[in-house]
Amino acid sequence: MPVKIAASILSADFARLGEQVKAVEGSADLLHIDAMDAHFVPPLSIGPVVVESLRKVTGLPLHCHLMVEDPVALLRDFAEAGADIVTAHLEALDDPVHLIHEAGALEMRAGLAVNPETPVDGVFPHLESLDRVIVMSVRPGWAGQPFLDGSLRKIEAVRGEIDRRGLRVEVEVDGGINDVTGPRCVAAGATVLAAASSIFGAGDVAEAARRLATAAGR
Ligand code: DX5
Ligand code: ZN
Repeated sequence: MPVKIAASILSADFARLGEQVKAVEGSADLLHIDAMDAHFVPPLSIGPVVVESLRKVTGLPLHCHLMVEDPVALLRDFAEAGADIVTAHLEALDDPVHLIHEAGALEMRAGLAVNPETPVDGVFPHLESLDRVIVMSVRPGWAGQPFLDGSLRKIEAVRGEIDRRGLRVEVEVDGGINDVTGPRCVAAGATVLAAASSIFGAGDVAEAARRLATAAGR
């Protein structure tokens, strides 16, 4: 599968969000929207109202990364706001099958994310019904942290299992991705690179998104 760039808006200038999204549209394949509830992770971030505004200004797929304690309770709001894909954390779910089913019933594709300390094989029983797996390569909650090398082995492991079963599940890596770490993740089997600070923290966000896409072999 061709490598995709997911521009994570957590590091964007929210007063100029539409403009910044337009700037990355040429290089980004989707937008990655980090929703945090101050319970699953300490920070509070954004939610469906921002998704609704983004839906009006871009045709890029909107992928909502739910770092929240009760993701199932929020699915309808995200769907109605225009989300295309929702990913919830394995650590937050008693019943991943229920989350995947509910997302599908709301016509969204579903993903499962694993924190750095969570073994990735926890997603293996669900691969057949997933759109993607997010391997977190930083502690969830904050942009701008350094990439954790331990995630490379997890990317390899989940990619190996997906390929062994002949599935088309995306492996998205999230955290500390730039034009050095991104290609290492692609070599390990990642097909989606999510990046916030290396894109939106740059002076020229369009150029930064282009550079990451080029580094990833696009
Ligand atoms: C972290 C978020 C990431 C974050 C990545 O909790 O899930 O998506 O935006 O930020 P960078 O790319 O700066 O590590
Ligand atoms: Zn994220």
